[in-house]
Amino acid sequence: MRIVVLVSGTGSNLQAVIDAVKSGELDVEIAAVGADRPDTYGVERSDEAGIETFVVNFNSFETRAEWDSALRDKVLSYKPDVVVSSGFMRIVSEDFINAFDGKYVNTHPALLPSFPGAHGVRDAMAYGVKVTGCTVHWADAGVDTGPIIAQEAVAVLPNDSEESLHERIKVVERRLLVQTLADLAAAPK
Ligand code: GRF
Repeated sequence: MRIVVLVSGTGSNLQAVIDAVKSGELDVEIAAVGADRPDTYGVERSDEAGIETFVVNFNSFETRAEWDSALRDKVLSYKPDVVVSSGFMRIVSEDFINAFDGKYVNTHPALLPSFPGAHGVRDAMAYGVKVTGCTVHWADAGVDTGPIIAQEAVAVLPNDSEESLHERIKVVERRLLVQTLADLAAAPK
């Protein structure tokens, strides 16, 4: 199974995928890693790991639609079986997702459908939930919507800050993402 991973930030989830591929635990080929902005640590990590990288800079396009189709064409050029949005902070169009037959996986640091959006951890804490977690799902063109593949709960501790809780969620999120990709790679086509 060939994957292209999209990142916007530090790419620690991506690093877990890279490590699992390197150790042989995960039998997928990371065809490329792409970002929507320059200078992400996610791209730097990939460069260090010898993985091909690209940037389709959101801010270099006049319209979202132009950026979206440029990204689609770039990702298509790698012929991935699955595209992974791993801390990728942009919504893509239905057209983009259809170009990959809907094989677009996203991870989210909350138990969807609760707390979608860019601040899933902060919003869960503000609500006062005692349990949150993470979700790996097939993404559609909505904000963190689409069929759920895997979820796992993480307890909110009394002294948690957004950062401490997000860090614990990300530990689980990395495992869940690697496991999901392994399951997809092993599934009959
Ligand atoms: C993850 O929790 C992801 O679900 C969220 O942002 C975080 C990205 O972390 N959207 P990283 O870039 O993989 O370190």
